[in-house]
Amino acid sequence: MSALWKSQLNEGLHAPLHAMNRSITFDFRLWPYDIQGSKAHVEMLEKSELISENLSKRLLKGLEELETDILCGKTTPQLQDEDVHGFVERELIERVGPEGSNVHIARSRNEQILLDVTLYLRDLTHRVVQGLDHAIDAMALKEQEAGETFMPSYTHLRRAQPMFVKQYWQAHKLLWEKAKQGFIELGKSLSQECPMGAGASNGTTLATQPQWEAERLGFARSSENSLATLSSRQHLLTFCGSSVHWLLDVSRLMEDLINWSSSEFAFVSLSPRVTTGSSMMPQKRNPDICELLRAQASVAMGHYVSLMMLLKGLPMGYMKDLQEDKSQLFAVADLMECALEALPLLLQGVTLNVVAMQNAAQDPLLLATDVMEWLVTKGIPLREAHHKVANSIHESLLNKVPFPDCVIKLWPDFPQEKFSPFASCVTRLRAK
Ligand code: ARG
Repeated sequence: MSALWKSQLNEGLHAPLHAMNRSITFDFRLWPYDIQGSKAHVEMLEKSELISENLSKRLLKGLEELETDILCGKTTPQLQDEDVHGFVERELIERVGPEGSNVHIARSRNEQILLDVTLYLRDLTHRVVQGLDHAIDAMALKEQEAGETFMPSYTHLRRAQPMFVKQYWQAHKLLWEKAKQGFIELGKSLSQECPMGAGASNGTTLATQPQWEAERLGFARSSENSLATLSSRQHLLTFCGSSVHWLLDVSRLMEDLINWSSSEFAFVSLSPRVTTGSSMMPQKRNPDICELLRAQASVAMGHYVSLMMLLKGLPMGYMKDLQEDKSQLFAVADLMECALEALPLLLQGVTLNVVAMQNAAQDPLLLATDVMEWLVTKGIPLREAHHKVANSIHESLLNKVPFPDCVIKLWPDFPQEKFSPFASCVTRLRAK
C-alpha cells in the first residue's frame, strides 16, 4: 500500500504484494499527462473556491518544478510509489507541505488514470497518423518507381492474371490510407468526453466545475455518466484494434516480400541495409526485419485479445484488473511506433527485378480469362466459354502446342494483339 493513504489500522501490504500491486513500473510513462491533468484540476479547484489562490499558486509551482526535475533526471519514482498518481502527489507534498495533498480534492485515481491515458492516446494517435503519412509516402514512391512494369497477380499463390506492379503497391497504399482515416477519427473522439467528474464511483459531493476542467484540457464536455466513464476502455480497444488491422496488412506485405526476395521467385532484391547475415552460412542474406514485422501482427493481436479478455465479465465500475490494460496498450503502441519507423526504411531497400517479374507474366495461360471474356463478347454464354477455353488449355498441355496456337486454330478471329500481358494490363486498368 502506498505510504500516502496507509491507515494506522494496518501495516500495509507485504513487500511482495506491494511489488505486485505497483503499476509505476509501466505507468511512469504517463507522468507528463498526470502533471498536465493535475494543473488543470488545481486551477478548477481554485475557480470553484475549494482551495485558496495562494495554495493554487504553490501547487502549480510545485508541479512545474516536478516537471523540470523529472525531465533532467533529478527526480525518479521511489520504491514506495505505487503508481504515477501517487508519485506526483507524494512529490507535491514534499515540495509544498501537507497541503500538497489538496491537489487530490474531489479527485480519484480511477478517473485520473483514464484522463492520463486519454491524453497519452491523443499524442500517440497524432504520432501514428504522422507515421502512417510517411509510410504512405514511401509506398507512393514505390508505386511511381514501378512505372509500367508488369507481373502476374496471384490467387492461392498460383499465377492468375497479368497486373502492373504499381497496382500491388497501390493496394497497400489504399489500405494504409483507410487505416490512417481510422486513427484520425480516433483522434477526434479523444477530445469528446473528459473522464474527470466521474470520481471514484459516483462523482463528488463538492461543488466542482468539471465542464470547465474538461474544456481546459481540450475536451468538448465532462463525464456524462460516472459508471460508463469508469468502466469503459473503448479508446484503448479502438487503438489496439485499429493497430492490429493495419499490422495485419503489413504482415501480408512482409510475407510477399519474403517470398519475392527468395531465390525461387527472385522478383525483388533486398538491400544489405535491410537484411541480415547468417552466423554459420556465409552465403546467406536473411529477411529478418520482414519476418519480425510479420510477427508483430501476431504479437499485437495477442495483446488486443488480452485486453478484451481483461474486460470481459467485469462488474460495472472500477476494478484493479483494469490496471493491466496499460501493459497491453503500451505493448501495442510500441509495436506500432517500431513498425512505422521501420517500414519506410525497408521499402527504400526493395528493388524490383523487372526481367523476372515480366518473364513470369509472359506465361500465355495468364490470358485464359481474356480469351474467355472475348468469347462472351461474341455471344457465347459464360459457362460454355469457360468450358471451351478449359478444353483448349487441356489440348495445349496434352499435345504440347502453345496455348495461343490452340486459340487461333479454334477462333481465328481472336485479335493477336490481345496475346500480350502488357495489353491485358492496360485493358484491365481501363475497365476499372
Ligand atoms: N494504477 C491504477 C490503474 O492503473 C490507478 C487507479 C487505482 N485505483 C484504485 N482504486 N486502486 O488502474
